[in-house]
Amino acid sequence: MKDSNRTVRWGILGTARIAEKISIAIHQADNAELTCIASRDAVKAADWSQRHSAKRSVGSYEALLQDPDIDAVYIPLPPSMHGEWTVRAAKAGKHVLCEKPLALNVNQAREMRRVCLENQVQLMDGVMWYHHPRAHQMLKMLRSDALGEHRRFTSSFTFCWDDVPENDLRLQRDLGGGSLGDLGWYCIGAALWAFNELPQKVFGTARPYNDVDYNFSGIMWFTKNRIASFDCGFDVSMRKWFELAGTKGSLVCDDFTRPWENKKPAFSVNDGFGNATKYETEAPLQETCMINHFSDIIRSGRLEQQWPDLGINTQRVLNALDYSARTETVVNLADFFPTS
Ligand SMILES: NC(=O)c1ccc[n+]([C@@H]2O[C@H](COP(=O)([O-])OP(=O)(O)OC[C@H]3O[C@@H](n4cnc5c(N)ncnc54)[C@H](OP(=O)(O)O)[C@@H]3O)[C@@H](O)[C@H]2O)c1
Repeated sequence: MKDSNRTVRWGILGTARIAEKISIAIHQADNAELTCIASRDAVKAADWSQRHSAKRSVGSYEALLQDPDIDAVYIPLPPSMHGEWTVRAAKAGKHVLCEKPLALNVNQAREMRRVCLENQVQLMDGVMWYHHPRAHQMLKMLRSDALGEHRRFTSSFTFCWDDVPENDLRLQRDLGGGSLGDLGWYCIGAALWAFNELPQKVFGTARPYNDVDYNFSGIMWFTKNRIASFDCGFDVSMRKWFELAGTKGSLVCDDFTRPWENKKPAFSVNDGFGNATKYETEAPLQETCMINHFSDIIRSGRLEQQWPDLGINTQRVLNALDYSARTETVVNLADFFPTS
């Protein structure tokens, strides 16, 4: 039984597929309740609300924002709509958990952060794995000297479409599609999370399709001889791993974006002599970890600026990589959207 004094009242904009997972997380979290679902279509909203046990439904996104009994909104709309609806939600006094990629470009992402700050509401992107206990444990290891001096971060996030879903938002440029925003967002974010700074320069190359990237490979140069590289795309079987390699050893996580089904969340540390130590962690649903964390921020009244900052930094690197691939040039980040 949830304590109504402790619950954050959530609304969701759009009956997106991913909203189903988030509805389960909101029901699971002890500090959240699913108050309202909004769709462009009132019948669809009502049907969704019945299937996913939302308290009520409305037939427009704006109607949800005008509801005084909503504290926070989750925005799983196509990326091209993230900027507009985050700003509208913040102006209506709602905290915003917005799906990735946060925006279409850095200026838009910065405007989202500015309006959220001005209205004293939290902004966070929907990357879930940062909030899982495994991520906290891996970060502790990375911040210790267990691996020696860090040198390389390598990651991949891919899945394979047998039949290309031509109408999927991921293949529509006007909706903000492309594998870099859809999957590369995680690889870039993970590199920034691991190295705890922005790269100095980047280079990217892509396989184009419908004027979006169907796959993407990127390289990012950091200070202190550190390099990160990644690949993402819709044309290779599911891979979702990273490796952080240092002078004394390496940390490998085979499923960082989401633990494999029916496997305990784990990571390994290799010592460079053929010995691997496996660490297993607790296994809560990562969606629930994120909803719990976000709801706790609201309840505490202490906004966490590191989340919009990480989102904007990820966006900045992403847009620099995209520009690099389109112009076939190495891009210095200092020249690319320089002001913070
Ligand atoms: N964090 C994660 O693990 C994760 C996983 C998957 C996706 N995502 C992100 O979540 C977002 C949604 O992805 P999804 O695959 O779940 O999307 P989806 O199923 O295609 O749903 C998008 C929703 O947006 C609404 N919408 C409004 N205008 C639209 C338009 N012009 N075209 C299409 N839909 C429109 C629709 O809701 P109504 O018709 O009800 O208004 C639709 O149900 C994306 O930003 C994606 O990158 C995140």
